Amino acid sequence: MVKLNLDKVSESSSWDAGLYDRSFGYIQKMALDLIDDLSPKQGECIVDLGCGTGEMAAVIARTGAEVIGVDNDLEMIRLARLKYPTIHFDCTDASDMQFSRKVDAVFSNAALHWIKNPMPVISSVADNLKLGGRFVGEMGGEDNVKVLIASLYDTLNEFGISKDLVVNPWYFPSVKEYSLLLEKGGFDILSIDHFQRVTPLDDCPKGAEDWYEMFAGRFLTNIPESLHGKIIKRASMIASDELLVGGRWFADYTRLRFHAVKQGI
Ligand code: BEZ
Repeated sequence: MVKLNLDKVSESSSWDAGLYDRSFGYIQKMALDLIDDLSPKQGECIVDLGCGTGEMAAVIARTGAEVIGVDNDLEMIRLARLKYPTIHFDCTDASDMQFSRKVDAVFSNAALHWIKNPMPVISSVADNLKLGGRFVGEMGGEDNVKVLIASLYDTLNEFGISKDLVVNPWYFPSVKEYSLLLEKGGFDILSIDHFQRVTPLDDCPKGAEDWYEMFAGRFLTNIPESLHGKIIKRASMIASDELLVGGRWFADYTRLRFHAVKQGI
């Protein structure tokens, strides 16, 4: 078993891990083919970076690879450990991963867009990979959730709240920008694509309202909590013009998907 250095564990939580599993399972289901790109093999050691409640880690582990799930959210890690007790999960920061040996691959789904400063993460991935090791990931790309975000800004404007109060917690890079960073981090890029993935919110009974309740907490962090419910309801109403189609809610996701290898062989 690869051991993590746990000196720098971030024991914070801002997630309702149970709700994440119940209503947002599409995040894993719609990206399952990313595991085909990863092509895990028996005996390999693979890190699932931003593993959440462990769903993708469990799929990868079924191939016979040894998986280490890493997330900086303790609630997510606690639930992952409960669900998958045979997999090793650790609460640690993506920019500061330290394993006792180099790993074969680092995989990441729907996590990297939560990290505003991408270069330390890319460097940390490179530091922990063997030469020729794979970095396979998917994240929100340029213009991701544009309607959902614009509806929040429109609502704040209507409420007379300055947009300077907003903390936009997301990083949605273009192909060009992320390619440059990967190359700077010592990776050769085998593929990198940006594409739309209009995503049904079928397990969210209140559609965009549920999405905002799950994900917009950090965006609204400087705004009095007593207003959050009203802001979310109004933003959801505005977003419904484009995202509620025939009684069905959709999120306007775009994805950036890449497969890179650490240079040196
Ligand atoms: C995403 O998966 O693209 C995403 C999820 C939550 C907030 C922002 C983006």
